[in-house]
Amino acid sequence: MLSVTEHKDINFSSDLVKQFDDIVTRYPEGKQKAGLLPILHLVQAEYGWVSPEAMDKVAAYLNIQPIEVYEVATFYTMFFLRPQGKFVLEVCRTGPCCLVGAEKIMTHIEKSLGVKEGEVTSDGKFSWRGVECLAACGMAPVLQIGPEYTFYEKLTEQSVDQLIEDLKNKI
Ligand code: FES
Repeated sequence: MLSVTEHKDINFSSDLVKQFDDIVTRYPEGKQKAGLLPILHLVQAEYGWVSPEAMDKVAAYLNIQPIEVYEVATFYTMFFLRPQGKFVLEVCRTGPCCLVGAEKIMTHIEKSLGVKEGEVTSDGKFSWRGVECLAACGMAPVLQIGPEYTFYEKLTEQSVDQLIEDLKNKI
């Protein structure tokens, strides 16, 4: 992943554009917009988030209006619209997880990382946010970490501390 920086002069690499081309050729002539979601996933994988400048470039590439990209990127919560840490801890905050301590886990993560929801730690390694049901309610409380979307279940404050330590050592 490239470093998360300002994207004012963003230029997609030829390799990335080649991947866009591969996606677009899956669809009939004139239906290139159908490739928008996988293209946005590629952009996020490359840059760590989807900046307005990147969305404008995607619109130009697909020959569609920028608003058509914005409305998709802002609808799906898997797209980050501002820079994130290398690891984004996404904690389920839906009812069943809250019943068994999700709010306590989020408070603990905020304290441990020293950043509020959506912010990035000063070393650029972590961010966190609450998300809706991750479909693992029986193992609540739960969090996931992308881009592989690895699940961590039956969380406790201690297991979260261990997870953060393990992730620090992975970098
Ligand atoms: Fe948390 Fe379903 S409520 S995984």
